Amino acid sequence: MAIIFFTFVTVFSQFFLRIESFEVTSIRPSESIRDDNSTLVSIDGSFALGFFTPGSSNNRYVGIWYKTIPIRTVIWVANRCNPINGSSGVLTLDSAGNLVLLDQNKSAVWSTNSSKKASKPIVELLDYGNLVLRDEEDGNSENYLWQSFDYPTDNNMPEMKIGWDLRTGLQRRLSAWRSWDDPCPGDFTYGIELDVQQHSFPEPIIRKGNAKFYRTGPWIGLRFSGSPDLRPNPLFDYGFVYNDEEVYYTYHLKNKSVISRIVMNQTTLTRQRLTWMEAEQTWKPYNSVPRDYCDSYGLCGVNGNCIITENPVCQCLDRFNPKFQDKWSLTDWSGGCIRRSPLRCEEKASDGFIKFSGMKLPDAAHSWVNMSMNLKECRAKCLSNCTCMAYSNSDIRGEGSGCAMWFGDLVDVRQFTAGGQDLFIRMPASELAKAKVNRKVKRAAIVIAVVIGVVCGMILVGCYICRRRRLTEETERNLITSTNEGQEGDLELPLFDLPTIIDATDGFSFNNKLGEGGFGPVYRGMLKGGQEIAVKRLSMSSGQGVNEFKNEVKLIAKLQHRNLVKLFGCCVQDFGMARIFGGDQIEGNTSRVVGTYGYMAPEYAFDGLFSIKSDVFSFGILMLEIISGKKSRGFHHDNNGLTLIGHAWTLQRDGKALELISAHLVESDDYLDEVLRCFHVALLCVQQRPADRPNISSAILMLGGESALPQPKPPGYFMETDQKLEGENSSCKPQSSSTNDISMTVLEPR
Ligand SMILES: *[C@@H]1O[C@H](CO)[C@@H](O)[C@H](O)[C@H]1NC(C)=O
Ligand SMILES: *[C@@H]1O[C@H](CO)[C@@H](O)[C@H](O)[C@H]1NC(C)=O
Ligand SMILES: *[C@@H]1O[C@H](CO)[C@@H](O)[C@H](O)[C@H]1NC(C)=O
Ligand SMILES: *[C@@H]1O[C@H](CO)[C@@H](O)[C@H](O)[C@H]1NC(C)=O
Ligand SMILES: *[C@@H]1O[C@H](CO)[C@@H](O)[C@H](O)[C@H]1NC(C)=O
Ligand SMILES: *[C@@H]1O[C@H](CO)[C@@H](O)[C@H](O)[C@H]1NC(C)=O
Ligand SMILES: *[C@@H]1O[C@H](CO)[C@@H](O)[C@H](O)[C@H]1NC(C)=O
Ligand SMILES: *[C@@H]1O[C@H](CO)[C@@H](O)[C@H](O)[C@H]1NC(C)=O
Repeated sequence: MAIIFFTFVTVFSQFFLRIESFEVTSIRPSESIRDDNSTLVSIDGSFALGFFTPGSSNNRYVGIWYKTIPIRTVIWVANRCNPINGSSGVLTLDSAGNLVLLDQNKSAVWSTNSSKKASKPIVELLDYGNLVLRDEEDGNSENYLWQSFDYPTDNNMPEMKIGWDLRTGLQRRLSAWRSWDDPCPGDFTYGIELDVQQHSFPEPIIRKGNAKFYRTGPWIGLRFSGSPDLRPNPLFDYGFVYNDEEVYYTYHLKNKSVISRIVMNQTTLTRQRLTWMEAEQTWKPYNSVPRDYCDSYGLCGVNGNCIITENPVCQCLDRFNPKFQDKWSLTDWSGGCIRRSPLRCEEKASDGFIKFSGMKLPDAAHSWVNMSMNLKECRAKCLSNCTCMAYSNSDIRGEGSGCAMWFGDLVDVRQFTAGGQDLFIRMPASELAKAKVNRKVKRAAIVIAVVIGVVCGMILVGCYICRRRRLTEETERNLITSTNEGQEGDLELPLFDLPTIIDATDGFSFNNKLGEGGFGPVYRGMLKGGQEIAVKRLSMSSGQGVNEFKNEVKLIAKLQHRNLVKLFGCCVQDFGMARIFGGDQIEGNTSRVVGTYGYMAPEYAFDGLFSIKSDVFSFGILMLEIISGKKSRGFHHDNNGLTLIGHAWTLQRDGKALELISAHLVESDDYLDEVLRCFHVALLCVQQRPADRPNISSAILMLGGESALPQPKPPGYFMETDQKLEGENSSCKPQSSSTNDISMTVLEPR
């Protein structure tokens, strides 16, 4: 069909040289388009190329416009700055096979510049107005010797690649018309900027003259960092390609009968997507950037943070202050912000990062990106370079991947109410310690507290004999189960018989064993009604007597508070009880201690004094163990023989708390603030004097709060020797070492 049509047109033209309008679908050697209403039309009929005069100008230009739209909308211009005076222009193929535009003197005012000579050149207009020159001899019709999509003007058409061909160095940029009647490039331009040598993070930037005007932010896998509103939509698909060969942004219209384009407008200084409204016969804006005041490039100066919902919109990034406070107060933000406390990069351990959420990533001019590194590697690399000020994932898809880093001052940052990224900004240790606890982390801290509470509870609590009445050896031997709840006095607890407990724990099955506290193992169980319980079984070898047992149960019943497992009931059974009972009971009643050695408060371990502050001490030690990833028992610090607690306290005193924090906990810095706070609270919990320790509810409030914490006084068990000597001299010997191991297994921090 096309060939027949073409032949027809050719024959027709030879007979009627002067016609109203005259269309061809290709230009071959010796054929031309003259300024006589002739046009080259696209194969699908939607676009036309020909001569036109813009606005009130008298000049003639060669351009491409929508053929199907009554409002002439020029999307590309050949001789942008070299207009032709009068209608003498001719567009034709020269002897080298290039398309040239000749003026009245037959000199070229514009030409394609294919370096390869085609043996049989042909010029065609393709979909979305792509003017192409190719060799008809070439079997591959997509091997273009030249294409207008490589030299865009002000319109970003569908399927166009705006960006770089890194192999050839070709950059495809958009530039607005100088004015509505002059297609010569104005100074309002759009292109993807990157420093290939530096492996910088590529990002599209709009410039006004030489100055940056608007950044979309780098591409973060789904969209651009600064355009949280770019979302999957019914109109178009979009994508960003970055590999060794190419870097470009492109989009694709989902429905070919929909007409939509992006245009740079020098008059309004916007980059707009417009969609043709058939019913109204107008171009309707779909979206437009910059969108708001905070999109103005660098509005708040270096290290400033633009927050559109604030008044004034410019703030300093958290932990930065205005460089010139007076100017800043008068809303002259150009001076930007400086750090409240300087970095101390040389002392490597003293720097860290704070997570800023909801951010538009900073100007990537001085950046570095590696798509295959993870966030942990990224942090380490950034930390190792004193000029690296921030890092983030380069791709937010899934759990996030890739690594981007920024060097020097952070420029053009803003914070969104929704859809921003996590940016980790370098901070000196002094700032990290003052860090605020964000909500997410508060929750984490409370979860840790609850877990610790549960474990502390398990160490202390189980299902024990709770009868107040003195049990005789005889009743024990005879397996008599008391059902005499009414006589329990102040301990009103349900009693369980052994079969119920056996049933609930699957016969004290190993799989249900949670751990081992003082005097016996603890099992997980499930009552018939679905109630979950922890069952502590008094072990024969435990050496705990009935008195101790009763005392413990009484104590627990009285002590019940939110961080202990609730004492739910008890069971009286155990042949072995009598034997344990026998000897130990006679020995007296003050020397035995319930608990896991190593977590016991000193006053309890040594003097048998138990108060609500004793479990606060245990809580503190557990918290220190979790934070440091080290066990309290057997901790030897090489230099000075300090205990874990002593060492922790010393580090805190010297402002070096970070040194003790387990690498697991700081890998992403998310929790660093709270980890430091937990560390501080833990030290308050292990203070020597019970009166100095907070009670457990204050400790939990401290973990979740943001207020300043008091400096901890020296802790109990400060030196290794204190612990050893006093432990050995006292009548309470440590339990078997397995007790601590089990506790740690349960608590192993992730
Ligand atoms: C081109 O078309 C316009 C109207 O469509 C007409 O006025 C003009 O004379 C035509 N020019 C030529 C050279 O045919
Ligand atoms: C264009 O041509 C007209 C006459 O053909 C002449 O008067 C005018 O000066 C020319 N303009 C330019 C810019 O050459
Ligand atoms: C065309 O040639 C004439 C004479 O050589 C010259 O005066 C005129 O400026 C030229 N016009 C253009 C547009 O180059
Ligand atoms: C082709 O011309 C464009 C300007 O239109 C120029 O930027 C480009 O470098 C030229 N390419 C070659 C191969 O000469
Ligand atoms: C494409 O758009 C046209 C015009 O808006 C509409 O009539 C047609 O149903 C659309 N096609 C699809 C597949 O959505
Ligand atoms: C730029 O915007 C102005 C005002 O909306 C409009 O008149 C003009 O046609 C636009 N220019 C382009 C190239 O879209
Ligand atoms: C990017 O990171 C990967 C994984 O760490 C590494 O193998 C690769 O060499 C890095 N590339 C560059 C350019 O540093
Ligand atoms: C730190 O990063 C900058 C920017 O990439 C680089 O120029 C400098 O050499 C790096 N310094 C070190 C010590 O790696």
